[in-house]
Amino acid sequence: MITITIEDRNGEQQPIEVPTDISLSLMEVLKASDYSILATCGGMALCATCHVQVLEGYDDLPSAGNDEMDMLDTLPDAGFDSRLACQLRIGEEMDGMVFRIRGDEQ
Ligand code: FES
Repeated sequence: MITITIEDRNGEQQPIEVPTDISLSLMEVLKASDYSILATCGGMALCATCHVQVLEGYDDLPSAGNDEMDMLDTLPDAGFDSRLACQLRIGEEMDGMVFRIRGDEQ
């Protein structure tokens, strides 16, 4: 189990506990935790509606792949700390990280 903190669109932060042994993406965890994430493409790095900003821990994440980079480039509000939640596999290195939800609502 790891604990990550999620900041919703109202700026409220909530810690959530996530198991690391079932290979979930951050997008799946957010949806399962009742955050309103559109995730139209179902995790294929094609819609960018699962956009998150990494407020703490960005440097410890694996680098974004080409598909993710291309998609982030299409977002007018993407910053240096932007990632697609569907492309982030939950792992031990995420313990203590803080993510802000930026993508479209459901
Ligand atoms: S769910 Fe579509 S890009 Fe992540």
